[in-house]
Amino acid sequence: MSDEIRDLLEEAARRARQETDDEPEPGMAGDVAWPMQVSLGKGLEGAIATSTQIGYVNGAKGWLIYRGYNVFDLAIHSTYEETAYLLLYGSLPSRRQLADFSRLLVHQRPVPPTVFDVLGMIPTARTHPMAALRTAVSVLGTLDESAEKLTVADETDVAVKLIAQFATLTGAIARIRHGREPLAPRDDLGHAANLLYLMTGEEPDPLMARIMDIGLILHADHGMNASTFTTMVVNSSLADMYSSVVAGIGSLKGPLHGGANEQVLYDLEDIQRPENVEPWLDRAQASKRKVNGFGHRVYKAYDPRARILGPLAELLSRRDLATRNLYQIAVALDELMTSRLGKEKKIFPNVDFYSGIVYKAMAIEPGMFTPIFAVSRVAGWCARALEYLGDNRIFRPRAIYTGPPRMEYHRSIRGPSDGGPFQEWKS
Ligand code: ACO
Repeated sequence: MSDEIRDLLEEAARRARQETDDEPEPGMAGDVAWPMQVSLGKGLEGAIATSTQIGYVNGAKGWLIYRGYNVFDLAIHSTYEETAYLLLYGSLPSRRQLADFSRLLVHQRPVPPTVFDVLGMIPTARTHPMAALRTAVSVLGTLDESAEKLTVADETDVAVKLIAQFATLTGAIARIRHGREPLAPRDDLGHAANLLYLMTGEEPDPLMARIMDIGLILHADHGMNASTFTTMVVNSSLADMYSSVVAGIGSLKGPLHGGANEQVLYDLEDIQRPENVEPWLDRAQASKRKVNGFGHRVYKAYDPRARILGPLAELLSRRDLATRNLYQIAVALDELMTSRLGKEKKIFPNVDFYSGIVYKAMAIEPGMFTPIFAVSRVAGWCARALEYLGDNRIFRPRAIYTGPPRMEYHRSIRGPSDGGPFQEWKS
């Protein structure tokens, strides 16, 4: 790794350590006894859905660990392949295990041409790349003979395929939507470099490849976020891994979740210049608009991933003027939002705030930002779905009914002929 990137990551970790210790929050780590008492808020706030050994988001203090390893250390020392192995299999691989796993991922990269044929039939101009990815993975599932085998071992094999093939699909989508042919994956490139190659058609320089690799490490897992939970809910009905992951893609697509990274970039472009940040934010706050890339259900401290992505964006901003301008706008918005809402409401930048600047500097268009997130997060989705499958119980919460408790049924009162709910549909 370049010394510059290592220094930057070490500095980010040092600053985080200076601000807080990493003691787990009371009640959020350690032994679990079911049933448990919790205080619940809307949107399952406060709900404990399961126990896990995969990862822990220390929201109060702003720390993230995967299987006990701090994400700062993983960003400094690991690769996406190694991190995916860690999440899936529970421990860091030996040198040999990592080489075998990396070879397996390379071997699994190619996807059946039928998937590209289907992608070619999608109206590209108006289809969001996340919708294309959702469709592509669904088609992939129909072509995989082992899709319906449901042992943990078989589903783990599917998970490895998905991790390998998400990059291939994302690369293909980036090209097909502009009328270009998808490229064949490059066996001689690592996961991150191959992803960049498949998207841009150019072999990335080592600095860009390493920054993409760090981005993938940072996005690989993050507790019971909406898309991970969605994936687990679907898998808990003993549906297959493809169905589960397709649902995860649907959840990640939304602007309140993974889709925020794309929206942030549009906001930064809309602001145009750092001097415009203040009036822009005044208007956003006056209209009670949530600012994309800020706030988090769990983090009530600065997101450790943003602590890394911010300086990486700064590093890239030294290379060209357009990135520099976007970065300066982002810093001004970060400072102003944090000063207005940091102390009062514990609102800070989240992972999506700086990632778009990093990807844009790699010549990637905003529509592809969330698919890149998915390329990484598929490891966390699968790892957690597989862990849960080992001791499965279907997810099934309840809702409090607030409708009328008892209504008399009279066909004549609400029928289609007298202005009932189907009138418009019938005419
Ligand atoms: N901008 C301004 N105010 C905010 C923001 C924001 N981005 N986020 C939360 N707040 C405020 C709310 O207005 C609310 O204030 P109030 O108590 O005075 O009403 C308070 O903070 C709590 O907000 P909630 O909406 O209850 O927070 P919730 O946990 O439901 O939502 C979410 C979390 C969806 C991430 C929210 O912060 C948001 O919409 N952020 C912008 C979209 C975004 O960046 N999403 C990506 C999240 S990271 C990820 O998923 C990968």
